[in-house]
Amino acid sequence: MATKANGKVKELEGEVYYPSEEVVAQARLQDWEAVAEKARKDLEGFWADEANELEWFKKWDKVLDDSNKPFFKWFTGGRVNIVHNCIDRHLNSYRKNKLALIWESEDGKLERTFSYHALNREVNRMANIIKAMGVMKGDRVTIYMGRVPEIVFAMLACAKIGAVHSVVFGGFSVDSLQGRIEDSESKLVITMDGSYNNGKVVELKRTVDEALKRCPSVENVIVVKRVGHDVPMEAGRDHWYHDMLALPIANGKCPTEVLDAEDPLYILYTSGSTGKPKAIVHTHGGYMVGTYSTLKYVFDINDEDRWWCAADPGWVTGHSYIVYGPLLNGATSFMFEGGPMFPYPNRWWQCVEKYGITILYTAPTAIRGLMRFGEAWPNKHDLSSLRLLGSVGEPINPEAWKWYYRVIGKERCPIMDTWWQTETGMFMITPTPSVPLKPGSGTRPFFGQEAEIVDEQGNPVADDQEGYLVLKNPWPAMLRTIYGDPDRYVNQYWSKNPGKYTTGDSAKRDSDGYFWIIGRVDDVIKVSGHRLGTAEVESALVSHPAVAEAAAIGLHHEVKGQGIHTFVLLRNGFAPSPELAEELRQHVATHMGPIARPEDVKFVDKLPKTRSGKIMRRVLKARAQGLPEGDISTLEE
Ligand code: PRX
Repeated sequence: MATKANGKVKELEGEVYYPSEEVVAQARLQDWEAVAEKARKDLEGFWADEANELEWFKKWDKVLDDSNKPFFKWFTGGRVNIVHNCIDRHLNSYRKNKLALIWESEDGKLERTFSYHALNREVNRMANIIKAMGVMKGDRVTIYMGRVPEIVFAMLACAKIGAVHSVVFGGFSVDSLQGRIEDSESKLVITMDGSYNNGKVVELKRTVDEALKRCPSVENVIVVKRVGHDVPMEAGRDHWYHDMLALPIANGKCPTEVLDAEDPLYILYTSGSTGKPKAIVHTHGGYMVGTYSTLKYVFDINDEDRWWCAADPGWVTGHSYIVYGPLLNGATSFMFEGGPMFPYPNRWWQCVEKYGITILYTAPTAIRGLMRFGEAWPNKHDLSSLRLLGSVGEPINPEAWKWYYRVIGKERCPIMDTWWQTETGMFMITPTPSVPLKPGSGTRPFFGQEAEIVDEQGNPVADDQEGYLVLKNPWPAMLRTIYGDPDRYVNQYWSKNPGKYTTGDSAKRDSDGYFWIIGRVDDVIKVSGHRLGTAEVESALVSHPAVAEAAAIGLHHEVKGQGIHTFVLLRNGFAPSPELAEELRQHVATHMGPIARPEDVKFVDKLPKTRSGKIMRRVLKARAQGLPEGDISTLEE
């Protein structure tokens, strides 16, 4: 365990890992309390100072406009474009020739690197092409790709011209993709012939073709060639990216559009408690300031670093901390096409050694997965370049935390356990490198934020009591609304606890003010850190001809954190069988994507319901775990 180096640090309760003297000496931020105090006293002043570190075409009139709560606005009157700060501003400095992106293919045979200069060139080319296809400011573009540099170019190209990207995770299947294209009314889809996943090809273009049979809004499809498979191309609609690049229109500079701070940057679909996934809206100005500032303070990013966020660009973690945050900070990022275990569970450690990665940011599910294969795999590699580690996506169990700390970080590297959400856009509860750590806790809220644990009535609960996690202050990277559904935005996040943001998580706070996330309180299941709604799994099941009714719950899973368990009531004429159960599991995977494949399907005669007909998943969950069923007074006879 590291020693307590900083004499000013107050003694904390429980198992505490104090930062070493070396870590404290290196940290950009020596005095956490002082910055926290400054932000507490003057929230707008704190964020204005952060925003002033970036370039604006015109400065804002007002930092925070809260005249129409909960529709908060940030940096109103400001003129900006996030791409100007991600790329353009670096071209006038030594960073022009600095590496922005290093990429390695799954099989390790290809390596591609892009300086800021080269990144600018590629983004200009992509932007020229999508503009030539008639995409204009405010239009939505769906991006459905694997982990290749072109996904980064595509996102930035949209942002550069003021179009709104909607990235759909490349592991989702036809129905999920189609629903998201339809809801966003995208004009253009950017995809690939296929992507690699553990040595196999995921047929992205074929999935797009299926989805587009029911999506009339789409006029054009750009297809990046990656795997070289023969894919059908519809004349007039589908265009190979390499063919477009060869056209004169691709050349030359594409101006970075001057936008309002509050203009939308992207929408990103995520699962909620009920119904279909909803699109979270993020903006150019506030999101830019929030992702810039959090990455700077929390991972202490600087010019010498080689940052690796091992998430997928299809999730918010990839948006904020593969694409925007690192580029805003002028950092060098590494992006790996594959996963941690293929072909062997040392794939990541090879990359850390080969590229001299200094900061690794990943999810507990990956750590638990790697842990199973033992220490010999990481121990084959020189991991001494690492100086900080990070975790995100779900609570990290102390056992996995300690393994990560000891085996990967060699007891030198503090672990930044960052709690946040698609909706928050940026880290919300997180340490910084010099903060003493407790395994399993994300420590305290980021500067300018106050979190609270409340009961069912919204009253604050005592220390160490479990309750609902709420956030008290607005923050610049906050979601602005749900795309096309402002009422749902208000109801979902702001009506249960007036004046406070309801996170949907349960948590505790200890006597040191450290927060401990327990999990979701709504009908969201976290499978390997991926967020899925019970409602989506259930409607996938019900779309099968044998199924009359279905319920899905999340239960503890050793590696995935949670696994999906389902209960199915069959239609007349269908009989339960192991084959049918298997068929239904596959049916869900086909409809939603492989990550949503249920662990099991149980056939039942009846589902517990309230008198008004709502399925009581809480009761199913308690039964499955052998726990008391709680208040069942509303259960129908
Ligand atoms: O339950 C919390 C969990 O992930 C949820 C948000 O999921 P999503 O929008 O997909 O974003 C994930 C990546 C930012 C939260 O409501 N969660 C996220 N990070 C943590 C976490 N739970 C515990 N500890 C974390 N560090």
